Amino acid sequence: MARILTGIQSTGIQHLGNMLGAIEPAIRMSEAGGNDAFFFIADMHSFTTQRDANVLRENTYAAAATWLACGLDVNKVTFYRQSDIPEVTELTWYLGCLAPYPMLANAHSFKDKMARLSEVNGGIFYYPVLMAADILLYDADHVPVGKDQMQHLEITRDIAGAFNRAYGADTFVMPEAKVSDEVMIVPGTDGQKMSKSYGNVVNIFADDAVLKKQVMGIVSDSRTLEEPKDPDNDNTFKLFKLVASTDQVATMREHYLRGNYGYGHAKKELLAVLMERYAMQRATYQAFMKDKGEIDRYLAVGAEKARSIAQTTLARVRERAGYGKR
Ligand code: TRP
Repeated sequence: MARILTGIQSTGIQHLGNMLGAIEPAIRMSEAGGNDAFFFIADMHSFTTQRDANVLRENTYAAAATWLACGLDVNKVTFYRQSDIPEVTELTWYLGCLAPYPMLANAHSFKDKMARLSEVNGGIFYYPVLMAADILLYDADHVPVGKDQMQHLEITRDIAGAFNRAYGADTFVMPEAKVSDEVMIVPGTDGQKMSKSYGNVVNIFADDAVLKKQVMGIVSDSRTLEEPKDPDNDNTFKLFKLVASTDQVATMREHYLRGNYGYGHAKKELLAVLMERYAMQRATYQAFMKDKGEIDRYLAVGAEKARSIAQTTLARVRERAGYGKR
């Protein structure tokens, strides 16, 4: 059975792009037979940039509530908070001492942050080492990631290789990146890729009024109500296509081509489909966010399982690296 493992960024409330592009496919993958899935909330990585303790904690709960509301089954998936398994930071140290400085300094994501951010801390530099520890601590075989994370996987493999050469080939499992080829492009309300940093998101878990405002704010061209419209070049239609049934999509396409159908009508239909499709998830999410203790209880199930594996790996590493009594 292959162990698949991936980290979830916890930077605020998840949007439709995250749902369709990452969360729903990951949950489907975890349900497919033959996979032993480990999903964790990368809240230690968040500390590289988040200085508000309340926000950090809330974001972690929001991420957990989202995945649980989307149907993640904690009895099938090992689902945990990164920070609940402090072994990961100790492993980060050992791995960092085998990571050549230039490899870390030349990583794209680090150079990019050096260029963009006014303050770059040591955690940002060490980000890929913590990520390597996330993966190697749990003997992961496959790591589903986006293209932007490929280099981090290469760094992980380099460090694992160096460690295995120095301390024994069976110290770490060599992980493989799994970049999904059907990367779904979810357009945002302005037509660019949906992303929190572009401010063009549709927040499925926001209050009704906020969700409505986001959907009604989708950018369209200035064709009048009467004029026929081009479905394939319209953001509302593109989003509708991703969430509605085949019949609903065919009908809306006809309406666009026929004319006498405004963008406002289309947006209302999109909103209705979103509300219906995600009704259960939205309600469950709200219930979880009102009862954080319940989220903690779910996360504790995963932490217990993750921790016992982490301790076994760390004991192996410590012993080989020269720590502890003989
Ligand atoms: N860096 C990843 C991202 O930005 C999140 C992450 C942290 C991760 N640790 C990981 C992904 C380990 C896969 C495996 O998306």
